[in-house]
Amino acid sequence: MSSTQPPATEAITDRAGEAVRVAVLLPLRLFLGITYLYAGAVKLLDPHFLVAGDPFSVVAQMEGYARSSPLGGLITATLPMATTIGLLIALAELAIGLGLLSGLAYRLAAVAGFALSILFWLVASWSVMPYFFSPDLPYAAGFLTLALAGHGGRWVLGLARPKAAPDGPAPAGAPVSTLRRDLIGVGLLAVLTGLVAGLTSAAAALGKSRPSGPVPTTAPVTAVPATPAPTTAPATAAPATAAPASAAPVTPAPPTAAPPTAAPATPAAGLAGPRIGNVADFASRQGVAITVPFEAPFALGPGNPGIMVQLPDQRVVAFSAVCTHGRCTVALDPSTGSLLCPCHLGAFDPANHAAVVSGPPPLPLPEMTVAVDPATGDVHAIFG
Ligand code: FES
Repeated sequence: MSSTQPPATEAITDRAGEAVRVAVLLPLRLFLGITYLYAGAVKLLDPHFLVAGDPFSVVAQMEGYARSSPLGGLITATLPMATTIGLLIALAELAIGLGLLSGLAYRLAAVAGFALSILFWLVASWSVMPYFFSPDLPYAAGFLTLALAGHGGRWVLGLARPKAAPDGPAPAGAPVSTLRRDLIGVGLLAVLTGLVAGLTSAAAALGKSRPSGPVPTTAPVTAVPATPAPTTAPATAAPATAAPASAAPVTPAPPTAAPPTAAPATPAAGLAGPRIGNVADFASRQGVAITVPFEAPFALGPGNPGIMVQLPDQRVVAFSAVCTHGRCTVALDPSTGSLLCPCHLGAFDPANHAAVVSGPPPLPLPEMTVAVDPATGDVHAIFG
């Protein structure tokens, strides 16, 4: 069907329509561009993210994702190169953000953002239910919208589209010049990304807000007796008959041997289960990683990670270390005393039954009842 409008009027109408479309999409473009630029920069600024062995590193994140993602086998296979993958993701996020904001390689950036969001959904937020609570799917939808719509020529750094003929087909040389323009755009975006990444890394090197690396071995140990802590704990804390062979019998300690505050973790009721650690472990690490004992009647299967913490009042507590949000592994943040999830920064309070302090986790961490053998300092899981 042919239009009844004169060609010039149609062109004006088309340009007006495109201007409206571009303007309507600008908030989405700005939000996604700024957010991805921020996400990439934060990863480079984080003194933990790229440090293998750090409980808040990308390696720890990927180990957690491997438990819940349908791509778990692939994630496990790529764990040896997790730090490199983390760096590439940070650079990709920078490039996507800069591409959207500057207009350089705009559609490529939008498509890459869509692909990365889908990957994040499959890897990082697959276990978030219902699906629309996953933050990555709305990002994917937003990137797809921008990829389909384009930028309309607005805010494109130095690479404005070649002037189209007012009417009629594009000039014969247009496809070639478009390809050249796109290649130049990709090159400029790569340079811009490298520049921003370099500046960000330099800023990270200058001012680290938290000590990098594993939990410092020089962590304060004043709360922990240098030797196993004999206490006045009730003898029922860990009946010798139920303890494994490695656990020494529970013997009432001489009353002067230890401060009365060095008490066992919990009221000692029930049977002593497997040994999961020793109070002396806290001398080198405040938050001690454990493995859920095979016999544990626990919310998690055997072999899952747990964490044992000594609180400032000397109590020893233990929890599942599997985050109730996306199943990443939490670790003790020495600076705050909370159990922190590296994936979306969910925080739990170990002094309050691992209640959620902040972040997206919906539930506290399951708690494991433990008791300290006053003779040996061994920490036992208590069942029953
Ligand atoms: S997995 Fe999301 S906060 Fe832990």
